[in-house]
Amino acid sequence: MAGICEGRVVVVTGAGRGLGRAYALGLAAEGAKVVVNDLGVGTHGDDTQERPADEVVAEIRAAGGVAVANFDDVADWEGAQRIIQSAIDAFGRLDAVVNNAGFVRDRMFVSCTPEEWDAVIRVHLRGHFCVTRHAVDYWRNEAKAGRPVDARIINTSSGAGLQGSVGQSSYAAAKAGIATLTLVQAAELARYGITANGLAPNARTRMTMTAFADVMTPVEGQFDIFAPENTAPLVAWLVSEKSKHCTGQIFELIGGTIRLALGWNDGPEYDIGRRWQPEELGEKITELLAERPAPKPVYGTQ
Ligand code: NAI
Repeated sequence: MAGICEGRVVVVTGAGRGLGRAYALGLAAEGAKVVVNDLGVGTHGDDTQERPADEVVAEIRAAGGVAVANFDDVADWEGAQRIIQSAIDAFGRLDAVVNNAGFVRDRMFVSCTPEEWDAVIRVHLRGHFCVTRHAVDYWRNEAKAGRPVDARIINTSSGAGLQGSVGQSSYAAAKAGIATLTLVQAAELARYGITANGLAPNARTRMTMTAFADVMTPVEGQFDIFAPENTAPLVAWLVSEKSKHCTGQIFELIGGTIRLALGWNDGPEYDIGRRWQPEELGEKITELLAERPAPKPVYGTQ
C-alpha cells in the first residue's frame, strides 16, 4: 500500500538524532524522499565531529526508503541554500521543509551571557528563517513559472515558547518567535500554495533526558508516551497532500494527546467605551486576573 507521502520530497533539519531522526524515518516509511540534514553538534551546539545524518540515511535505505544526507548549518545563509539545493539536485523538486534543528544553553536569565543568548536565538530563529527563506524562493519561482505548488512549512516551537520555561529565557523567546513566525508565514504564503504549521512536541531525546529522565523513562507494558516516534505521524500528515486545508496552527503533542496550542487571543476582555483612568484599570485588571491568572512557566529543558 502506498504511504501518504508518496512522491513528496522533504527536507528535515537536525534529522540525525532525536525527533528529527524519527520524522525522517517516518516520512521515508510513508513514501517521501528525504534530505536528512544534521550538523552533528552536541546538546549545546558544540562541535562533536559526528555525522549522525549518515547513519539515518543508511537506516532509511536499509528499510527500502530513499534519502540523502546534508551536513550544513541551518543558520548559515549559504549553508541553508545548499540544504534546499540538495533536495532539488537529488530528487528534482521540493515539497516540504521540517525545521527541527536546534540546541539549548540553559541559564537563569540573570546569568545568561550575550554569547549564549545569540547562539540559541541564532540556531532556532535564524535557522528557521534561512532554510525556509530559500525554500520559499524556490516555491515562488515554481508558482511564477506556472507549475502547481502544494508546499509545506513545518516549524518547531515548544511548550517553553507557549507558556515560558524557567532557566530557558533564550530558548523560550526563540520558540515564541517561531510560533508567531508561523502565523505570519501562513498568512503571507497561502497565495503561493504554501501552508505553515508548527509543532510543540514532548519527547525523550538527549535534549530532555537530563531534566526529565524521571518522567520520560518508559514503563514496561504501558504506552510509551514520550517516544519520539509518537510525533512522526503528525509530521507525515502535515507533509502530505492531505493537509492542504490546515495552516497557521501550532500543534502540541504529548503521547496520544493532540492540542491546538495557540490561545493568545482568547483571554477575557472588557470595553469601558472611553479612555481608562489608571485606578479604574487597576480594579478591572484585578477582576480579569481572577478570570485568567498569569500562565505559570514550566521548569526545565523542553
Ligand atoms: P536533539 O538534540 O536530540 O536533536 C537535535 C539535532 O539538531 C541534533 O542532531 C543536532 O546535531 C542538530 N543540530 C543542532 N544545531 C544544528 C544546526 N545549526 N544545523 C543543523 N543541525 C543542527 O534534540 P530534539 O529533542 O530531537 O529536538 C528537536 C527539536 O525539537 C528542537 O528544535 C527542539 O528545540 C524541539 N523540541 C524538543 C522537545 C522535546 O521534548 N525533545 C520539546 C519541544 C521542542
